[in-house]
Amino acid sequence: MTKDSAKSANTMWGGRFAMAPDAIMEEINASIGFDQRLAAQDIRGSRAHAAMLGAVGILTQDDVAAISQGLDEIETEIAEGNFPFSRALEDIHMNIEARLRDKIGDAAGRLHTARSRNDQVATDFKLWVRDRLDDVDAALAGLIAGFLDQAEQGADLVMPGFTHLQTAQPVTWGHHMMAYVEMFARDRSRFADARARMNESPLGAAALAGTGFPIDRERTAAALGFDRPAANSLDAVSDRDFALEFLSAASICATHISRLSEELVIWSSAQFNFVRLSDRFSTGSSIMPQKRNPDAAELCRAKVGRIMGAMVGLMTVMKGLPLAYSKDMQEDKEPVFDAADSLGLALSALTGMVQDMQPNADALRVAAGHGYSTATDLADWLVRELNMPFRDAHHVTGTLVKMAEDRAAPLDALSLADMQGVEPRITAAIMDVLSVESSTRSRTSYGGTAPDNVRAQVARWRERLAG
Ligand code: ARG
Repeated sequence: MTKDSAKSANTMWGGRFAMAPDAIMEEINASIGFDQRLAAQDIRGSRAHAAMLGAVGILTQDDVAAISQGLDEIETEIAEGNFPFSRALEDIHMNIEARLRDKIGDAAGRLHTARSRNDQVATDFKLWVRDRLDDVDAALAGLIAGFLDQAEQGADLVMPGFTHLQTAQPVTWGHHMMAYVEMFARDRSRFADARARMNESPLGAAALAGTGFPIDRERTAAALGFDRPAANSLDAVSDRDFALEFLSAASICATHISRLSEELVIWSSAQFNFVRLSDRFSTGSSIMPQKRNPDAAELCRAKVGRIMGAMVGLMTVMKGLPLAYSKDMQEDKEPVFDAADSLGLALSALTGMVQDMQPNADALRVAAGHGYSTATDLADWLVRELNMPFRDAHHVTGTLVKMAEDRAAPLDALSLADMQGVEPRITAAIMDVLSVESSTRSRTSYGGTAPDNVRAQVARWRERLAG
């Protein structure tokens, strides 16, 4: 087929059309500019459909062989960049079918028996999203491995734990890294849930109502790696939940990426100096030679805007659409493509940053002691050793903190006599709980920050990830 014949009377559906579409119509209608990214999935779907049509006797084996041969050639043309994409042919489905007709003639037209672009696009797009779910899962596994290494190496490193971004209590670097393991592992499980739920085949739902041909939907579902065919043809062609779920899980994952990136930006500043990000993920300034800018972290922090925007955009497209297919749904692809690209890039960059980053042990330890971070340990000692009610212990500790503050000194610079002036029953043993190391070592409750807990969690996660 030539471009011209497609224009004057579209052979896909042009039987009752006398005029070619207006140029603006062609521009607004065409999706080939972006849905060419579905080419591999479209060919996979057509192979499965053709084989099934052959198996149930709707197509001859000669036709199936010709289709298969033609699709192989098309796949090569696309891979090598030689495929003649045409906007007049609107989308990837019609581009491939027209090309197949160029190559094998009439058999190409029979491929569309018992199929519509509506179930075709739903199938292609689902396969594409499913491929990305698998990519994201692998990327998250790599990121988590980076955190586990950091946690293991820094299980004993002491750093400040914050609430309200105010120094609260000392924690360990390993514990902080493991918090992200939990977050990104939940993301993995959210993507896995979405994958399990979406894995039903729309193929064979045809335009909306199913078909009278004796097709075998179980067979095409199995050939494409789906668990089963979708049970309702109207739902099958109008469902885009799989894209929305991907975007939702991606948005939550992107908020985690953004929070981590924000910490990296803060931590790598001269004021904090908690970590050194590697040269591989930093940039210099063209005018200020001393600068090392955490550009990669900043861009990862920002990606959530596009990803969440994609989710809100597609939700808004889908709301209020009557069953079954409407052309509105062609607007589903670009946001998902962009979100998937952004997420993949951010996860790769972040994995590199996490693997390379070097915690600055001295700065972390000094900062861990700022702001009377072991005051709770002091109060806990009064409760434990003197059987003091926690509220009273809180009051005594507050008085001691005030005394230290007035002298601009840390808590462990107060003498025993100073302390006994406030609470006579205090003994020298209290000095043992005032260091940041003993504070973190003491927090052995399940889920607490103690270095031994961190090592146990690293081991538990390693086992889970291997198994
Ligand atoms: N390009 C279309 C899309 O992306 C394919 C389905 C077209 N179906 C139709 N009945 N016009 O949604």
